Amino acid sequence: MSAKVLVLNGPNLGRLDIRDSSIYGNLNFAQLKEFIESQASIQGFDADVRQSDSESEIISWLHEAADSKTPVIINPAAFTHYSYAIRDAAELLKAPLIEVHLSNPLAREEFRHTSVISGIATGTIAGFGANSYALALSALREILSK
Ligand code: DQA
Repeated sequence: MSAKVLVLNGPNLGRLDIRDSSIYGNLNFAQLKEFIESQASIQGFDADVRQSDSESEIISWLHEAADSKTPVIINPAAFTHYSYAIRDAAELLKAPLIEVHLSNPLAREEFRHTSVISGIATGTIAGFGANSYALALSALREILSK
């Protein structure tokens, strides 16, 4: 049986179809989800890919992952930059947490230069488009095999 990984996506990522493709790439969210699922299965994971615009829903998913000791890959989207509530929930996790971004926030507007999540993440991968998720899955496989 494949190891489970929860792949959480924050606000506005469900609307990649209408966001700036020069920043976020050409995949809509359904295509991104399919890409993540197929990459996960290549790496031996069963990915449960979710998206929400609601901070409260993301927090409840993190609680669920903490209780089930499931590893998490998260793109907190704009919550990255200011949600202490998501950070506190992510801190409860018992398995690795990898922060991902499609774009490279450090190369963008100043308000994106702060991540309140990075400090409690196992690591962060940003700037590689959809491939950021594939790289995160590969890093997770490496960490869990140790
Ligand atoms: C993002 C970067 C964030 O700054 C932004 O608010 C997003 C997406 C990314 O994947 O590049 O919504 O997390």
